[in-house]
Amino acid sequence: MMKKTLLITGGAGFIGSHVVRLFVNKYPDYHIVNLDKLTYAGNLANLKDVEDKPNYEFVKADIVDSEAMLNLFQQRQFDAVIHLAAESHVDRSISNPTEFVFANVIGTVNLLNAARAAWKDHSEGKLFYHISTDEVYGSLGEEGLFTETTGYDPHSPYSASKASSDHFVRAYHDTFGLPALVSNCSNNYGSFQFPEKLIPLFINNIRNNKALPVYGKGENIRDWLWVEDHARAIDVIFHQGKVGETYNIGGHNEWTNIDLIKLMCAIMDRKLGREAGTSEKLISYVKDRAGHDLRYAIDSTKLQKELGWVPSLQFEEGLEKTIDWYLENEAWLHGVTSGDYQKYYEEQYQKR
Ligand code: NAD
Ligand code: DAU
Repeated sequence: MMKKTLLITGGAGFIGSHVVRLFVNKYPDYHIVNLDKLTYAGNLANLKDVEDKPNYEFVKADIVDSEAMLNLFQQRQFDAVIHLAAESHVDRSISNPTEFVFANVIGTVNLLNAARAAWKDHSEGKLFYHISTDEVYGSLGEEGLFTETTGYDPHSPYSASKASSDHFVRAYHDTFGLPALVSNCSNNYGSFQFPEKLIPLFINNIRNNKALPVYGKGENIRDWLWVEDHARAIDVIFHQGKVGETYNIGGHNEWTNIDLIKLMCAIMDRKLGREAGTSEKLISYVKDRAGHDLRYAIDSTKLQKELGWVPSLQFEEGLEKTIDWYLENEAWLHGVTSGDYQKYYEEQYQKR
C-alpha cells in the first residue's frame, strides 16, 4: 500500500465519521487528516474509537475561510481530498438558505482553489473526490430511477447548493484539468446520525413518548442505504473510480415515509416491551415541508457493474441494528439533544 496523506472534510459528521473510521482502520499507511468546523452537526464523540490512532489527525477549520484553506494546502502535501463537509439538512436550508450557499458552494470552491494551487504542476495521481446527493436530480414520479445522466433539477435550497457545488467540481475538472470525481448517494441511515433527520428523530421521539411529526400524508418515498455501505462505496470509488466520472450510490430500497415509520414503531414496541400498536398512536400528521420532493430512487448499476460494489445489509436488519445502537447509546443522544437542539426543535415543529 502506497503512503498517502488524505484530507477528509466533514469527518466529525454522520457519514464523514464512518468514512474516517473505515479509512483509519483499513489503511494504516494512510495519514488521515479530518478537517471539520464542528458545527452543531459535527461531534468528535463520533470518533472516540479512532482518535488515538497514529495515522489520524484532527484539524478544526472552516472551509468558508479561503485563506485558511489555501494555507493548509500549501503547508501539507495532500495526495487526495474526500469532501463531505456541508450543511446537510433540508429543513434548515428552508429556514436559512444563505448558510448553505456559504458552506456548500463557497466552501467547495475554496477547497477546489486550494487543491488547484497546491497541485498545479503535479496533479498526476492526485484526486478531489466530492460527495454529493441524489437530491440534485429533483423528484421522480411513480416510475423511473435516477441515473448518472439524469438532468439536474434541485428544488430545496439544500439541493440547489449541492447541485451548484457538483457543477463547480466538474467545471474545475473540465476547465483546469483538476483530477476530480463525484458520487451522488441516496438517503443514509445508521449510527451517529444527528436526530434532526427522520430515522434518529423518530427513534428518539418514540423512546420519549413524543409526537411523531409526519410531513403531509407521509406518502413521500426515499431510497434508504446503510451508512457503512455508503462508506464502503466511497472506499471503492476512491480507489477504483475513474477521474472525471460520476457514480450513483443507492440501496434499491424504497419506502414511503409512513410505511417506514410504522415499521420503526413496531420494532420499537417490541424492543421497549410495549404492547403492539402503542407507538403508532404517536403519529401526528403536520404541515408538509415546502417544496417537498415526492420520490427519490437511485440506479446504481454503473457502480455495481464497473466497480463491483453491492450493499451488504438488508434494510430490516440495518434498521434493527440502528435502533439498537440509539437505545444503547443514550449518553451520545443526550449529548447531542441537550443545549441548542431544544430551541431548534421548538422552532421547527411548534409552528406546524
Ligand atoms: P452532517 O450534517 O452529519 O455532517 C456535516 C459535517 O460537516 C459536520 O461535521 C459539520 O461540522 C461539517 N461542516 C459543516 N460546515 C462546515 C464548514 N463550513 N467547514 C468545515 N466543516 C463543516 O452531514 P452528513 O449527513 O454526514 O452528510 C455528509 C455529506 O454527504 C454532505 O456533503 C451531504 O450533502 C452528503 N450526503 C448526505 C446524505 C445523507 O443521507 N445524510 C446522502 C447523500 C449525500
Ligand atoms: O437523499 C439524500 C438526502 O437525504 C441527503 O442529501 C440529505 O443530506 C439528507 O438529510 C436526506 O434528505 P431528506 O430530506 O430526504 O431526509 P430527512 O431525514 O430530512 O427526511 C426524510 C423524509 O421524511 C422526507 O420525505 C421528509 C420526511 N420527514 C422528515 C422529518 C425530519 C418527516 O415527515 N418528518 C420529519 O420530522
